[in-house]
Amino acid sequence: MIHHGLKGITCAETAISHIDGEKGHLIYRGYEAKVIALQSSFEAAAYLILYGTLPDAHELLDFQEKLTAERTLPKHIIDLLETLPHHMDDMAVLRTAISSLGTDSFAYPPRPEEAIRLIAVTPTIIAYRYRRIKGEEAAAPNAQYGHAENYLYMLTGRRPTEAQKKTLETYMILAMEHGMNASTFSARVTVSTESDLVSAVTSALGTMKGPLHGGAPSGVTKMLEDIGEKENAEAYLTAKLERGERLMGFGHRVYKTKDPRAEALRIKAEEVAGDDRSLDLALHVEQEAVRLLEKYKPGRKLYTNVEFYAAAVMKAIRFDDALFTPTFSASRMAGWCAHVLEQASNNMIFRPSATYIGSFPQAAQQL
Ligand SMILES: CC(C)(COP(=O)(O)OP(=O)(O)OC[C@H]1O[C@@H](n2cnc3c(N)ncnc32)[C@H](O)[C@@H]1OP(=O)(O)O)[C@@H](O)C(=O)NCCC(=O)NCCS
Repeated sequence: MIHHGLKGITCAETAISHIDGEKGHLIYRGYEAKVIALQSSFEAAAYLILYGTLPDAHELLDFQEKLTAERTLPKHIIDLLETLPHHMDDMAVLRTAISSLGTDSFAYPPRPEEAIRLIAVTPTIIAYRYRRIKGEEAAAPNAQYGHAENYLYMLTGRRPTEAQKKTLETYMILAMEHGMNASTFSARVTVSTESDLVSAVTSALGTMKGPLHGGAPSGVTKMLEDIGEKENAEAYLTAKLERGERLMGFGHRVYKTKDPRAEALRIKAEEVAGDDRSLDLALHVEQEAVRLLEKYKPGRKLYTNVEFYAAAVMKAIRFDDALFTPTFSASRMAGWCAHVLEQASNNMIFRPSATYIGSFPQAAQQL
């Protein structure tokens, strides 16, 4: 029997995360990801994912200091970012820059210190490239700011508001880890050959780049822009469903109830929205869409997915669509690294087999 795409195949044991798609739970190391996202900092969540326990105050401070110390770009990465073609895809740039970090200091077996370095430096690479492409001076990392705040600062050159910082931080925690997804699997396959951490996350970045994984919130952003005002929502969504089209940001392969990540992002969005009209519109569109999906697609269990609220909050913090997949990757870096460390701690090389469907040599050809 062939399991195309390895669907339904369990290929590892993991203590990092658990997804219950029927009940709508995402567990990070024994804690609801939703609770971690709403109550912890990026740094505390990344520590939990990497080390398996929430840090005490001393451990958190130590971890924050290590992350802060590793944010700066080495000169050869700056030179590289300055020379890569302007038209190069953002994810291709990130993959190339991360790959170029792979000097002799990264070797098998992978170490947590290497993971810290990668988690710390990824936002700096993204922000550096983003500003330089726009013809602006890069903003050096600011040691006074936490991980998410500093990322926003490096992107804009301005200190973000508390609401912007909290919104991005919540998103980054929720995007940090999601079981044996395609990019995580790639990272584990690469390290299973006793390759190094940089090679493993470079594989993961190449996998994340594909639209079936890294996605893009542009479908949702466009829908919200097309709707424009609350009073247009019902007619717009009904027309789409009447034409047999899909509503972007709804439905999920795994979650057959509310996606807990979308739930947490909605709660945070409501908390920080203030008088932001774009979030108000998103909340209304969500309500209408869920109601209409139940009417047009009864029993299909179609609820809001993470992409809907990712798009809504990114729009609220004035994030360019182009930053979505790189930011998703900067968040997932923690999950990838944790999986690579876990794989290496109990390694067996991945080597599935394939059923040959080509031709065989004719008898006369055989020597
Ligand atoms: C994510 C997705 C691919 C999951 O699909 P799935 O669980 O395999 O579900 P299926 O594609 O088998 O669809 C099952 C039924 O629900 C319908 N459906 C699924 N998602 C829908 C949506 N967003 N809008 C309208 N109908 C939808 C399908 O048309 C199908 O209807 P049918 O039984 O009448 O044929 C799908 O929900 C989708 O395309 N969503 C929109 C795109 C999106 O938001 N992607 C981001 C995911 S994070």
